[in-house]
Amino acid sequence: MRVLYFGDVVGRAGRDALLAAQSDLRARLKPDFIIANGENAAGGFGITGKICEELYAAGIDVILLGNHAFDQRETLGYIGGDSKLLRPHNFPKAVPGRGAAIFKNGKGKRLGIIHVMGRVFMDPLDDPFASVAGELPKMTLGGSVDFLLVDIHAEATSEKMAMAHFCDGKATAVIGTHSHIPTADAQILPGGTAYQTDAGMCGDYNSVIGMDPAEPMNRFVRKVPGGKFEAALGPATVCGVLIDSDDATGLARRIEPIRLGGRLKAALPEA
Ligand SMILES: [Fe+2]
Ligand SMILES: [Fe+2]
Repeated sequence: MRVLYFGDVVGRAGRDALLAAQSDLRARLKPDFIIANGENAAGGFGITGKICEELYAAGIDVILLGNHAFDQRETLGYIGGDSKLLRPHNFPKAVPGRGAAIFKNGKGKRLGIIHVMGRVFMDPLDDPFASVAGELPKMTLGGSVDFLLVDIHAEATSEKMAMAHFCDGKATAVIGTHSHIPTADAQILPGGTAYQTDAGMCGDYNSVIGMDPAEPMNRFVRKVPGGKFEAALGPATVCGVLIDSDDATGLARRIEPIRLGGRLKAALPEA
């Protein structure tokens, strides 16, 4: 089974690039599922129902979020009625939406997703490890799912790597998001779980993690907020990973980074 997962889509530049790449990627790589992190899709802050529908119409099967999940207030009302939009599972219980789910495609392939947020240098939330541990028995490879993706939306590389080892042999892949920078450590761990610390963003890399550099620089240099953060609008690089699983075991056979367009050196996996 083959899954493509694209990192944080930032603003219009990221959305346009991801949408434009879909038909070619689908024809070339024939994925069973395409997932994207959409937490920055609306001008860098959250997502809207309209943007979700655009992404679904282009072939994105599932959208994950993160710390920016509810930056657009409409998402609080919308997420409960959208089964393909997940927010971190370890958010407080009363938060609308869900963070773990099983999806079935037209060919009957079953994809499990557990979406959690880290706690190091981030908002205090429930323990993501306990959160994942609670879901793993419901998403066994070769049992209730054919492929299990754990998304760890986190700042600290250590927390992401620890999650990968925590899930090794139980998940097909553990992929990090949130830093907006793709890491060069794609690997398959000893137990058979594919891992990359961060998928990177779909956005303009002539930026500060997707934002026009002016205001981030101002805040670092002067420590005084000047204006608003604005998403950078130059040509975006579409960043993600391709993961192939073994149909017999559900464990990973292959993980490859994807980088297309914009300023970063291109990486396109062989079909
Ligand atoms: Fe993000
Ligand atoms: Fe984030």
